[in-house]
Amino acid sequence: MIKKCLFPAAGYGTRFLPATKSMPKEMMPIVNKPLIEYGVEEAIEAGMNGMCIVTGRGKHSLTDHFDKNYELEHQISGTNKEDLLVNIRDIIDSANFTYIRQREMKGLGHAILTGRELVGDEPFAVVLADDLCVNPDQGVLSQMVALYKQFRCSIVAVQEVPREDVHKYGVISGEMIKDDLYRVDDMVEKPEKGTEPSNLAIIGRYILTPDIFELIEQTEPGKGGEIQITDALLKQAKAGCVLAYKFKGKRFDCGSVEGYIEATNYCYENVYLKSQDTKTNKK
Ligand code: G1P
Repeated sequence: MIKKCLFPAAGYGTRFLPATKSMPKEMMPIVNKPLIEYGVEEAIEAGMNGMCIVTGRGKHSLTDHFDKNYELEHQISGTNKEDLLVNIRDIIDSANFTYIRQREMKGLGHAILTGRELVGDEPFAVVLADDLCVNPDQGVLSQMVALYKQFRCSIVAVQEVPREDVHKYGVISGEMIKDDLYRVDDMVEKPEKGTEPSNLAIIGRYILTPDIFELIEQTEPGKGGEIQITDALLKQAKAGCVLAYKFKGKRFDCGSVEGYIEATNYCYENVYLKSQDTKTNKK
């Protein structure tokens, strides 16, 4: 039903300088896998096979990652190192990767609009790879796709965050229509302290209906002088319906050093070591 997933990935990742001076932030590894690969896996698990990546200058390693590397593969062919490439080979075989360059950084709304040519006229998902979301039973995108099937409108993922952190996020308020699901009536991008409509913060997972593109086109620059997807979504909510879903699972803010370290420790213990155990048991 939803086949495409858009990854805005043109940002500079300044919070991780100097590491991100020549390496895209999306390629920073969490244990042995780049951040964006976790997002791609989540999209595949949710039934998507079109990965639409909005890149920028200096992001060649990202495009190379989702492609064959004949020289490397030749070198390790027949050795036990081949196992390490099984996962990424499966990803490359099961999904199509398309790319478009965002020439100027004018905000998340602008990045999403840049991806329009890749997405076309169909509902699609958006993943901000900085937000690493894990849930062993069912990934966050897959939970959202199930809701989309029922409600057929745009859906944003939200999480309760401490009041003192609310100003770092897009924030929603709305009426709860069933457990963990809200019909949005207000949305503010990074509200000033003391003016936040709730503590339900938008996390980097969205399902968007294609009319959002027109709405972004009509959206003036907002917070920080940038074109904000939050502002376009508020228009959509007022004209029709936008849902906010308090997802099941953990989320790590890998755009911050603390969140990145937490994600690394969590994935080492709960993903990496478990996959090693499975391999040992198979042998
Ligand atoms: C973006 C969105 C914001 C959202 C956040 C989630 O902000 O604009 O609404 O809450 O992602 O990570 P950014 O973190 O890119 O400034």
